[in-house]
Amino acid sequence: MILVTGGAGFIGSHLIESLVQKGEEVLCLDNFDKFYAPEIKEKNIAAVLKKRNFVLIRGDIRDEKCLKDIFGRFPIEKVVHLAARAGVRASLKDPILYANVNISGTLRLLEFSQKKKVRSFILGSSSSVYGVGAKVPFNEDDPLLNPISPYAVSKIASEFYGRLFHQTYGLPIIILRFFTVYGPRQRPEMAIHKFTGLMESGEEIPVFAGGKTERDYTYVDDIVGGILNALEKGFGFEIFNLGDSRTVKLPYLISILEAELGKKAKIKNFPDQPGDMPVTYADITRAGEMLSYSPGVQIEDGIKRFVKWYRQKNY
Ligand SMILES: NC(=O)c1ccc[n+]([C@@H]2O[C@H](COP(=O)([O-])OP(=O)(O)OC[C@H]3O[C@@H](n4cnc5c(N)ncnc54)[C@H](O)[C@@H]3O)[C@@H](O)[C@H]2O)c1
Repeated sequence: MILVTGGAGFIGSHLIESLVQKGEEVLCLDNFDKFYAPEIKEKNIAAVLKKRNFVLIRGDIRDEKCLKDIFGRFPIEKVVHLAARAGVRASLKDPILYANVNISGTLRLLEFSQKKKVRSFILGSSSSVYGVGAKVPFNEDDPLLNPISPYAVSKIASEFYGRLFHQTYGLPIIILRFFTVYGPRQRPEMAIHKFTGLMESGEEIPVFAGGKTERDYTYVDDIVGGILNALEKGFGFEIFNLGDSRTVKLPYLISILEAELGKKAKIKNFPDQPGDMPVTYADITRAGEMLSYSPGVQIEDGIKRFVKWYRQKNY
């Protein structure tokens, strides 16, 4: 059985759908937190709820009693840990909460996974760990010297706990650093989703730092493909970047959205946003060689798919 934490969220719900379809026994642990509307998460997993190889537990990764119960009751062999407080900007407002969920919650899960002797623990990390000043493209062996948000620090700490649990207890750990994931069900506060909503209703879109930021946008199906490959292969301890390995400048992203939506964006400029990295760009050589990871959806096509989903969704 595979435990997916945060499985009702954006990435987790796509992963769960693939796993359930492949016939895997899947256990989802999610507390439906209020970072964005829990009703959205209910819809994310509505289709899998009826499947016989799927179990949903509504609970918190920080809750010792809850973890004791599920690790005692279910034959968990692998863990994909995606539950987190996500979002760089929001983390600046409540760093303690981010530390509680992303560091203490991860530690709690590592403890139970180690005692259960799970065969693989996959930790969802982020390009944010590279911070500012790192050379591009970012390589997994680069030192993590200058994170610029509480979220990034919490992800670095969770990675280090993962490494520690491997070194100390031999727990097999795979760290996957995701780069700006997008696609259907993307979190509503993320740029592509937010801009789409504002442009559809004719409102202004906020652009920070003169629109000079560049992001390595990665389509959610490619991320799920990387996670599935990681689940199949066994490693002692490895770190992989999962990105598209192309950077997209913000004005170009906006132009693709304009073309797809058939609307001109009204831009409202703001100064630099603390916590935002100027650029993200993944070196995916290692993931290609060791995980057979090969992203296939380019931004133009991905935005087309996103807009199609956005216009069809009823929430
Ligand atoms: N989306 C991206 O671009 C991106 C980029 C890098 C890393 N990540 C990481 O990938 C993972 C998934 O991100 P996402 O975009 O799908 O976010 P998301 O917010 O949609 O999903 C996270 C899920 O975790 C659940 N959760 C939060 N706190 C919990 C707790 N204490 N106990 C149990 N469940 C809890 C939430 O209810 C949510 O369903 C996160 O770890 C995130 O940090 C995402």
